[in-house]
Amino acid sequence: MKSSQKNSESLRKIFARFATGVTAITFSSKNNKFLGITVNSYTSVSLEPPLVLWCLDKDSELYDELMDKENYVINFLSENQRSIAIHLAKKNDHSLDKVKHRIEGSNCVIEGVVGWISCSKVETFDAGDHDIILGKVIDFNYNQRNPLIFWDSKYKAL
Ligand SMILES: Cc1cc2nc3c(=O)[nH]c(=O)nc-3n(C[C@H](O)[C@H](O)[C@H](O)COP(=O)(O)O)c2cc1C
Repeated sequence: MKSSQKNSESLRKIFARFATGVTAITFSSKNNKFLGITVNSYTSVSLEPPLVLWCLDKDSELYDELMDKENYVINFLSENQRSIAIHLAKKNDHSLDKVKHRIEGSNCVIEGVVGWISCSKVETFDAGDHDIILGKVIDFNYNQRNPLIFWDSKYKAL
């Protein structure tokens, strides 16, 4: 493709050609309600110290809440949790009222996930239209379920 054709639409397409898992970031809001947002920018960063990151859209309605948050949980969604991914990607309703979850200490963990990591925020970095949120792994758990996959802007199973 010629560089003149490489506009933001084609950039979006090449970004979408990379297969990822799907996570839901859960956290308690200022109103003490548990909220979640679907995110596929998660990546593990470092074993020692244990660090992970994800990226938050500066236009998100949850931006102010999340930038103030010191603790959150990254839930790795399983193949049968597509409806949760769709629900938590909608504007104006990030509530977990209809999503089965449990509270472990101050962590909100979605039931039926492949695994989860609770984090404390280490640092944020300005990165264009997103911010990168670097977190330290505080606790985690996992099992043998299969993950939900996102590829070519569609949900898939392995
Ligand atoms: C599969 C998938 C992955 C997404 N990944 C991210 C992400 O990494 N970071 C982000 O800020 N929003 C991501 N989004 C968008 C949010 O889930 C959500 O759609 C958007 O934030 C809705 O707008 P709001 O936050 O203003 O309510 C993703 C959406 C989908 C469907």
